Amino acid sequence: MFFKKKKIEEIDLLHLPQHIGIIMDGNGRWAKKRGLPRSAGHKAGAEALKKIITEANNLGVKYITVYAFSTENWKRPKEEVDYLMSLLLDYLRNAEKTLAGENVVIRAIGSRKELSQEIQKQIIKTEEFTKNNTGIVMNIALNYGAREEITNAVKEICAEAVNRVIDTSDITENVIENHLYTKNQPDVDLLIRTSGEQRLSNFMLWQVSYAEMWFTDKLWPDFKPADLRCAIVDFQNRGRRFGGV
Ligand code: FPP
Repeated sequence: MFFKKKKIEEIDLLHLPQHIGIIMDGNGRWAKKRGLPRSAGHKAGAEALKKIITEANNLGVKYITVYAFSTENWKRPKEEVDYLMSLLLDYLRNAEKTLAGENVVIRAIGSRKELSQEIQKQIIKTEEFTKNNTGIVMNIALNYGAREEITNAVKEICAEAVNRVIDTSDITENVIENHLYTKNQPDVDLLIRTSGEQRLSNFMLWQVSYAEMWFTDKLWPDFKPADLRCAIVDFQNRGRRFGGV
């Protein structure tokens, strides 16, 4: 896929997507092309991510959710899972120093109980450390699956109904949203997926209902701030009707 690089001046800063979702795909292929182990692709992917967060924050985007580890990724070889977990731990630790200095609020979304105690503790620490920042909110989707998220919401709402905290006739879309990991956050309005794949892979199924989808053949470690700007300009040139005319 070819597209012109977009300059920052082409972006309408008054009409930015409020929430960008990114499926960061292609780390393995990036490494393979270079004769490197898959871990090298993930490391390069983590570096690419830092630059994208900085760019999105500087532009004034309010929320960004990145798919770092899905509920299905446990099926990968243990060595790769261990490496991804250590990379995530490092990222959370260092984020306190690097990204927090940029005013980023860091949150982890997904099911935590399957993660190691060390990562669970670090998530709490990093969230606490960055919670009063006023810049972009970065959700790291970690052991995240949209079906798990929705199932969890259904269980919580059923428990409330059984305990008569809520009447089933009062269950609205709003009630469901309030039981998702992204409670109080706007829907994703721009969804980016790299590496040429064009599927959702169990990512934010509820929140992307009206998202504009943007795909590129670039592999995630090659995705640059200029590519993010390109996606935003394309987003701004689309007519969004939300089911209307
Ligand atoms: C998909 O590429 C990518 C992942 C499963 C992991 C994404 C992780 C990162 C970008 C780095 C770590 C993130 C943080 C927040 C530190 P793939 O491995 O499926 O690539 P392939 O399809 O080419 O094999």
